[in-house]
Amino acid sequence: MFDFEGVLERGSRDEFLLHQINPEKMPQHIAIIMDGNGRWAARRGRPRVVGHRAGVQAVRQSVETAARLKLKALTLYAFSVENWKRPHLEVVTLMSLLKEFLRSELAEIKRNNIRFTTSGRIEELDRSIQKEIAFAKQQTESNTGMVLNIALNYGGRNEIVDAFRQLCSDYQRTGRNPAEISENEISRYLYTAELPDPDLLIRTSGEMRISNFLLWQIAYSEIYVVDTLWPDFNRISLFEAIIEFQKRERRYGGLAPVEQSAARMAK
Ligand code: FPP
Repeated sequence: MFDFEGVLERGSRDEFLLHQINPEKMPQHIAIIMDGNGRWAARRGRPRVVGHRAGVQAVRQSVETAARLKLKALTLYAFSVENWKRPHLEVVTLMSLLKEFLRSELAEIKRNNIRFTTSGRIEELDRSIQKEIAFAKQQTESNTGMVLNIALNYGGRNEIVDAFRQLCSDYQRTGRNPAEISENEISRYLYTAELPDPDLLIRTSGEMRISNFLLWQIAYSEIYVVDTLWPDFNRISLFEAIIEFQKRERRYGGLAPVEQSAARMAK
């Protein structure tokens, strides 16, 4: 089911971990808050942008691994609406890394049947990036494999504001009754309308925060925080996150099966 033929060394830790992953209990959608680039660089006495550059390598490996694991979707938090407050050089570097990534990886993305999408206010970005993004989307729109969703100029509250604006204007225009608004209807107005909600949210660098990421969509996601700094996150780290996810019992507010039968017997 997985596609690691000829990729993993015999007897390696990757191979050992891969065998522990249950193909029947795979998360469909993994979302990642990539954190710790700055600290990674500081530990080496280097400027922050060196950490971001090293972070791109971790992006590449995560995308490749997620596609080989046949995930439905991978969402990566690359630039938040709050990130504009960072020093100009850092913002410019992040944007050009993104452009570079799209240019250098598009062929690989296409070869792997990945569909590229974004979440966020793309229309506020520099024209040259908008062009690159539009090209990558158009080139991959009919791909049927994993969706690679990059959250860019993204804010969870902004997303909800944008959804409400569109929803209200549609309802006003068509005279629909607001009583028809349901959770599903709201989901359809979010940037992630076409994606399942993330089953697993990973945050690197040990910080216990959501940072305005996918506020609506992570209502029932399992959260996995790992101390690894983003540039050090690799295939092994992703395997470990999935193994931990598969140990969790997802109850969606209900009871675990054992508790359920105990509760029935007590009636
Ligand atoms: C957080 O680390 C990371 C970011 C704000 C940017 C993430 C961007 C990349 C990994 C590279 C470009 C992305 C793609 C998709 C090609 P931080 O700077 O907040 O780290 P710190 O908390 O240690 O300072």
